[in-house]
Amino acid sequence: MALSQGGKTRDGWSSRSAFILAAIGSAVGLGNLWRFPAEAGANGGGAFVLFYILCVLMIGLPILLSETLIGRHGQASAPESVRRVAKASRVSSHWDILASMGVLAAFMILSFYCVVGGWVLYYIGQFMADIFASGVTGGAFEGRPAEEIEALLPNLFGNGILMVGLNALFLGFTLFFVARGVSGGIELVAKWMMPAFFILLIAITVYGAFGGAFSQTVSYLFTFEPEKLTGPVMLAAVGQAFFSLSLGVAGMITYGGYVGRNVNLGSTSAIISSADTAVALLAGLCIFPIVFAAGLSVAAGPGLMFQTLPHAFQEMPTGSVVGLLFFIMVGFAALTSSVALLEVPTAWLIDKFRFVRPVSASIVAGGAMILGALAALSFNELADWHPLDFIPLFAGQGFFDVLDGITAKLLMPIGALLTALFIGWFADRKLVDLENGLGGWLHLFWLFLVRFVCPIALIGILVVGIFPGMFE
Ligand code: TRP
Repeated sequence: MALSQGGKTRDGWSSRSAFILAAIGSAVGLGNLWRFPAEAGANGGGAFVLFYILCVLMIGLPILLSETLIGRHGQASAPESVRRVAKASRVSSHWDILASMGVLAAFMILSFYCVVGGWVLYYIGQFMADIFASGVTGGAFEGRPAEEIEALLPNLFGNGILMVGLNALFLGFTLFFVARGVSGGIELVAKWMMPAFFILLIAITVYGAFGGAFSQTVSYLFTFEPEKLTGPVMLAAVGQAFFSLSLGVAGMITYGGYVGRNVNLGSTSAIISSADTAVALLAGLCIFPIVFAAGLSVAAGPGLMFQTLPHAFQEMPTGSVVGLLFFIMVGFAALTSSVALLEVPTAWLIDKFRFVRPVSASIVAGGAMILGALAALSFNELADWHPLDFIPLFAGQGFFDVLDGITAKLLMPIGALLTALFIGWFADRKLVDLENGLGGWLHLFWLFLVRFVCPIALIGILVVGIFPGMFE
């Protein structure tokens, strides 16, 4: 739909549900399927999960609403939207720094996100090859020893050229849709891939549940043991909530910029965060029973989805088909997120330099390809290159980890903190009232969260992130 803005028209979502689907597509990604189960498993299960849900409600949702509100009011790229809200509120337009940092952060996340997208493509290829070799009925990688299956990932890491190539392929898919525009490209992926994603996730979860270890999983994920709720676990949970809801990097400001005036942002934000959380929990209910049933450990961290799970598919009847569908599903979710990540800097370039969309998107993708290649090579050829060795926080880390660390530990929390301060304390009350779609006590409660709870929590995250030794 074309949204009119000062006489000019701007491409926008064709309907409220298109916006909701695209925003859910942005939120639901590797964060839910790869990072959430890995973090939950590594942080002891129930305590992490329940605290995570609390963070989504008390910190994630209020910031999500703040971001979409800024975007919808501004109807422009993220920094320009912030300037418009600032102008209408008669405060300094330098608040746009929160969105400029976000644009940079989105660009950096895009770069390493597509590297991991490449790993997903690799596994899709591995399961396809397995089906060609040994048919659809047996388990995955039949007759191959566990070490060999778990070595698939390190083997890929050893092959720099393949990693860069797969990274380029994934980024290429992303560029294709973003270059086609908001209603004709971004919406298109969301409309087809998100429903397909949901069907696959539910089907695989139900299938896995019959494999046996479902009740073990439920008690693992939902039994609250207060003594397990330590400082590092809480920190991991807040960080995960932010990453998963795509907050702090101007993503939801950008998507909010394509939302029509008639959409109620309060209720849509609630729908988006509930869907994102539901998918994270479902991902846990999907992956853990399969892993438990195979008698494997859920505490493998980042290796859980890429190493433990493929091994677990070996025990499962028709495991190679289920495995293939699983990784296709992960690919869909990752693509709808990388599309959102590419859109953030693309919208900014279109606004700022008046480039046409395909040119803007290609420039950003080109830059992300360079950073992404460096990140991919940090697993092999460039493993000894530690670019920020002189900063203690990043000492000894390769380029991939540096990109991840700068965004997760610094840019995302700072961006979210500034958003909370800006909307809570500086933006015009009437404008905020009008945009947020909340009434009565809900509005007051939201304001309380944005003014006090979010800033305090975010400052905590920043401090603990920068001085990790403090709580140990
Ligand atoms: N939320 C995405 C996921 O769970 C990742 C992400 C973080 C993201 N920040 C973003 C996606 C900004 C789009 C825009 O995988």
